[in-house]
Amino acid sequence: MKILVVGGGGREHALGWALARHGHTLHFSSDNPAFAALGVVEVGDPLERARAIQPDLVVIGPEAPLAAGLVDQLDALSIPAFGPTRAAARLETSKVWSKEFMLRHGLPTARAQVIAAGQPLPTMDDGVVKVDGLAAGKGVWVCSDAAEVRRAVAEAARMQPEGRILLEERLEGPEVSVLAISDGTRIVPLPCARDHKRRFDGDRGPNTGGMGAVAPVVIPEREECVEILQRAVTAMAHEGTPFRGVLFGGFMLTQKGPKLLEFNARFGDPECQVLMALLEEDLAPWLVGAARGRLPGPSLKTRVGHACCVVVTGEGYPERSADAAITALPADAADLVVFHSGTRRVGEALRAVGGRVLGVTGLGPSAETARERAYAGVREVVFAGASWRTDIGASGWGSAG
Ligand code: GLY
Repeated sequence: MKILVVGGGGREHALGWALARHGHTLHFSSDNPAFAALGVVEVGDPLERARAIQPDLVVIGPEAPLAAGLVDQLDALSIPAFGPTRAAARLETSKVWSKEFMLRHGLPTARAQVIAAGQPLPTMDDGVVKVDGLAAGKGVWVCSDAAEVRRAVAEAARMQPEGRILLEERLEGPEVSVLAISDGTRIVPLPCARDHKRRFDGDRGPNTGGMGAVAPVVIPEREECVEILQRAVTAMAHEGTPFRGVLFGGFMLTQKGPKLLEFNARFGDPECQVLMALLEEDLAPWLVGAARGRLPGPSLKTRVGHACCVVVTGEGYPERSADAAITALPADAADLVVFHSGTRRVGEALRAVGGRVLGVTGLGPSAETARERAYAGVREVVFAGASWRTDIGASGWGSAG
């Protein structure tokens, strides 16, 4: 199959890596030094690239092109695209719309209120503050007291001056990422994963795009979470905006059962890295099936075992991007893959240039062996300021958000 992958981060490297293993001809419209080994890289507007290449499928990694309506534009050209339309992507692209959707359909979630910037703030001793629109992983603040809530609301108003702000009740419990491929009617779930969003060990420090992930995470609430995702897909179809693509539910496993923290309309990053590492069968027929409105079977085959992805960043992340020569990397092996998120080739040299630079992903028969393999790989990475959490896959479940 001829496939165009849109997006240039670690998630798209993982998608390309998984598809290339099954012999597909890959094209990429963004730059990432790792893509050259997987297919043809021609940087440009994805719609123009698709028009020129006429692929059998376009796989869209990031949320921004979904928000911009790339799937609608590809539909108009009759080019199959994996990802939701602009209207369906509102599950992620508008936090306010998404919350109203959850409440409209009785999907379990935190209580919330919406305020416009400048409107008086209700009294809140703690809570979660979210900007309405996309914010590249930076628009959520988990606040422990009233002063933090006030500061977060001020920051949210600075970030999106015209936007609305969502104020949510703070939920307590372990957090889990449940992703399912949807054809607009039916879903097929992937193994549950766990992201580690806080910057520092022990779930301390600012929220980030994700400092590492593990899968599978075995939880008794899995079926309940999957059923909530299925209800969401059914409700989207009833509202006339069927959701085709990957629906990602961020759940808090509270004492009163799983509650939705948010929806995302794309693969998580770094969840995608561990999920792709665990896939046994070819993903392409599933992505095409989702795009065409008919998934090819009842379940996706994953390999027996565990995966652990440790994200390597520059030391100033998330405030500053890395800028350093990478002088050593571990070699990929059957039980280790290094996914590139923020690297650039300058002549012969490879540089760390992003916030999140690499996702070093280990595989093993147990969670512990996968974790050990990933950290052995991480210790072979050399660039000035290279930094990572040391407790990916090892920390307790306690988190809040
Ligand atoms: N890892 C969380 C996200 O992709 O939004």
